[in-house]
Amino acid sequence: MTNSTQHWTTLYRHINIATMSDAANSYGIITQGAIAIANDKIAWLGKENDLPAFDKESVEIIDGENQWLTPGLIDCHTHIIYGDDRANEFEMRLQGASYEEIAHNGGGIMSTVNATRKADEEELFESALKRLTAMHQQGVTTIEIKSGYGLNIDTEIKMLNVATKLGQKLPITVKRTFLGAHALPTEFKGNAEEYIDLVCNKMLPLVNQQNLADSVDVFCEGIGFNLAQTERIFKAAKQHNLPIKVHAEQLSDLGATELAAQYNALSSEHLEFLSESGIVAMAKADMTAVLLPGAFYFLRETKLPPIEQLRHHNVAIAIATDANPGSSPIHSIQLMLNMACTLFRLTPIEALAGVTCNAAKALGINDHCGVLKVGYDADLALWDIKRPAELCYQFGVNPLSSLIKRGKRVI
Ligand code: NIG
Ligand code: FE
Repeated sequence: MTNSTQHWTTLYRHINIATMSDAANSYGIITQGAIAIANDKIAWLGKENDLPAFDKESVEIIDGENQWLTPGLIDCHTHIIYGDDRANEFEMRLQGASYEEIAHNGGGIMSTVNATRKADEEELFESALKRLTAMHQQGVTTIEIKSGYGLNIDTEIKMLNVATKLGQKLPITVKRTFLGAHALPTEFKGNAEEYIDLVCNKMLPLVNQQNLADSVDVFCEGIGFNLAQTERIFKAAKQHNLPIKVHAEQLSDLGATELAAQYNALSSEHLEFLSESGIVAMAKADMTAVLLPGAFYFLRETKLPPIEQLRHHNVAIAIATDANPGSSPIHSIQLMLNMACTLFRLTPIEALAGVTCNAAKALGINDHCGVLKVGYDADLALWDIKRPAELCYQFGVNPLSSLIKRGKRVI
């Protein structure tokens, strides 16, 4: 055997590949392709005909039977750890109450906070594990999970501990986001500044010291925090060297996106009310727009995010479930692919980029994850489909035939 012989652990042959390595410009298709994995990384990919000499002794060869391979899917915005549910509020909304009215009357996020404070770590872990398992079975290999239903030190830490343990239990990379500024807890009513003090001076340092968060998020909104309060959180996040994300311009345009751009945030998320100047700021700061069609659908919003202008300014668009008990009790990334196209008029290429390369960018992990490329993580999803658009076209039938996480077949 010559020195140039490749030593691989796994080789997938007879597959079609959507590499997603061309951002949202194309699927990056390789037909009649093959992909080789060495340990947990992609070692080679290309046309079957161009396969170099490889050591046939040590490699497991898998026949992909002409199915399609994509990067493992990334759900870059979720809140899957919480106590109880809010089906009662769903009924109230069907009788005419609005999401904001319910929040003002002590329901909404605060009702989930009360239930999450009461639940012990074990209960939170078990209920979130069910949700995460469902997501995994749909092809998710990386997920972001936010805290934000604790709003006190103990419960925020409890949630982030659960998030850490979920990542140890399932073969999924879990990125944890500290969202202490999700809502003003009732005990601080009329005292938002004091609560922000607590978040910045106590919670965040403790969370960071215990290495429990990979980024920091704020809900900047009429029913959340104002711009000045949001900026205090951004400053504190910077002090701790944690990347910033923001829930912004969901129900109104407060300019949180422009502010986040000044702090070099990774992403701004929701964005139905995003202005042109917000878009320009995002483009300049190379931020990712995370769009959440599930929340748009479930709250029956009518104002669409400014997709055409985001395209015009070349802002990367990611898509996520926003899985949470109030505004998006949805755990299907496949359904989000469909809704991104039907509700937001994204093309299937853009939608798929939204849950692969651009979702990786929203999490700041696009240097090793989210596209199929040599040297990148071997996180792969194999689909029983005839063409990539099928992933966006139908839902309710799961076409996932195999899932590979860091080189190991996990489904
Ligand atoms: O992303 N917008 C704020 N937070 C969540 C909703 C949380 C809830 O209603 O429990 C969201 O939509
Ligand atoms: Fe959210």
